[in-house]
Order: sequence, then structure tokens, then C-alpha cells
Amino acid sequence: MKRTHLLVLGVYLLSSCRAEEGLNFPTYDGKDRVVSLSEKNFKQILKKYDLLCLYYHEPVSSDKVAQKQFQLKEIVLELVAQVLEHKDIGFVMVDAKKEAKLAKKLDYKAFEEAAEHFQPYIKFFATFDKGVAKKLSLKMNEVDFYEPFMNEPIAIPNKPYTEQELVEFVKEHQRPTLRRLRPEDMFETWEDDLNGIHIVAFAERSDPDGYEFLEILKQVARDNTDNPDLSLVWIDPDDFPLLVPYWEKTFKIDLFKPQIGVVNVTDADSVWMEILDDDDLPTAEELEDWIEDVLSGKINTEDDDNEDEEDDDDDDDEDDDNSDEEDNEDSDDDE
Ligand SMILES: *[C@@H]1O[C@H](CO)[C@@H](O)[C@H](O)[C@H]1NC(C)=O
Repeated sequence: MKRTHLLVLGVYLLSSCRAEEGLNFPTYDGKDRVVSLSEKNFKQILKKYDLLCLYYHEPVSSDKVAQKQFQLKEIVLELVAQVLEHKDIGFVMVDAKKEAKLAKKLDYKAFEEAAEHFQPYIKFFATFDKGVAKKLSLKMNEVDFYEPFMNEPIAIPNKPYTEQELVEFVKEHQRPTLRRLRPEDMFETWEDDLNGIHIVAFAERSDPDGYEFLEILKQVARDNTDNPDLSLVWIDPDDFPLLVPYWEKTFKIDLFKPQIGVVNVTDADSVWMEILDDDDLPTAEELEDWIEDVLSGKINTEDDDNEDEEDDDDDDDEDDDNSDEEDNEDSDDDE
């Protein structure tokens, strides 16, 4: 793959030079620029260029034809290196067999192929820039895993990795402690329930109370990141303007203020934490206690199922003005 790219690049350059400059075709000046990369000179060469093109090749056999072909490729590379020298682009050759260790070190194939398993839900980024890597405290050929809303990444152990090792690690850590429901993968997220329920938090980031509540959620997630049974789904109503009326009706809540509740994915039955006053949001500890009760089953969507209707009838006596509206709402619920 790399070989073809490089040759294509070479051919492209030669032909474009010809087109632009008419007969002024660049000729090789005889200076050696392409070096063989080894573990010894690797660091020094990496420092020298902004961009390094690697040409991997099999060991050259003693066969005359093979040697001649290799020399030809070398000359093409030398010419390309000469033309691009002023742009700080370097060209090196790597003997895939002689420098097997180095080749493995430089080989991001495992990373690329692991990434394909999780497209497009988990994003994979690679950097070849030393400054960026340093800022991220990323070591050479290391893959760091960033869980959403966590401060620190986890360095995936045991590099250099195989594709399978990377895939397994990501699968194991894939479900974050706090995840934002996104339109592009909302169905995948919703299907990934925790034993039939989701703990759902509504918080509008652009709203001061929503923002504060989200910060509390993040705190709880950070404190409980090692709990594999916990995964909070955060929904910003701003991301789903068309669904807000539907959610308010289904869950019987007001989405103009922060909410957190348990939703049964089978029948959309739900229980919501009582947040009486927007100015009095639960603390991280209170939220953790509530979540603990949900995970232990103490708070669940089933207990109140029989009381529901009786309660509604009794409570409506005082505010007769509003009871019409609620009646209408109930009768819409048939589907
Ligand atoms: C969800 O609702 C279904 C149907 O009412 C019920 O059978 C099931 O036990 C509920 N699951 C949980 C985890 O509460």
C-alpha cells in the first residue's frame, strides 16, 4: 500500500513538473538524500523533517534484475526527495526484514484496523506531531483511551499492540459512565440499556441551572468511573427540539428545568428524582445516593404502577382549572 502511494506520488510530481516548466525537467543532482532508516538514526531523522515518507521494502535479493529494479526505485525516490527538500519533507527506506522491530514500531496498521471496528461511533485520532503528542503526554506508538467527561485518559497497556488487543480494550471500556445522547447514534445508545433501564438526565447546557446540573453529573461520573454497572445518559434538550414535547408528555416532566430519572426501556415507564427548586439542585452526594437506590432496585419504575390512577383523581380536586388539560392529555395516550 505504502509503496504504491509513494510511486504514484513520484509519477505525479514528475509529470506536473513537465507540464509547468515545459522542457525544464528536473534532473537528479547526484546528492544522496534518501537514507535507510534504522533504530539508531530514527530519532535524529525524525527531528530533521516536518514530514517523513517511509518506503518499506523487502530485503533486496542478489538477483541482478531485482537489484536493478531496486536501484531504479531508489533514483525515483532521490529525485522526489530533491524536489521536495525545500519543503522539509524527507524520504527514507525501511528494510522490513532487517529492521523488523522498527517496522513494527512505525506500523499504525493495527490502530487503523481497530478503528474500522468502531466507525463512526468511536473516534480515533492519530498525531504525528511531536508538539501535540507532548501536550497530550502521549508516548511514541502509544494509544490513549479518552472516556467522555473524564479528566485523564487511560494509556492502553502492552504496546506495541495488535489489532485484536486494541479492539478488545475498546470493547471493554466502550460504555462510558456518562454519555451524551447524540442524534447520530441515539438508537445505538438507547439499545445499550442497563438490565432494561436507563438513567436519564436532562440538562440544557446553555441554561445556568442545566449547566450546573451537568457539572454535578460529571462529578458523579468521575467518582464512579470504575463502576461497570453505571452509565448515565445525558440529554441536552437543545439537541432534540422536536422530541421535547414528546418526552415531556411521555415522562410527565417539565424539561425547562434539570431532571434525572429512571426509564424502563420496555414500556417507557419512568420515575424522576424530586427536584423541588431549580436553585436547590441535588449535591453530588445526594445524586450518588439516589443512583445507588436505583441500581439496587430500591427506586424502580414498577412500585408505583397501581397507585398512579388513584393518586391523580384525588389530587385534582384543588385546581379544577387545570384538570381539563390533564384529562385531554391522558386520552391522547392510547397508542
Ligand atoms: C420494565 O417494564 C416491564 C413491563 O411493565 C416489566 O415487566 C419489567 O420488569 C420492567 N423492568 C424493570 C427493570 O423495571
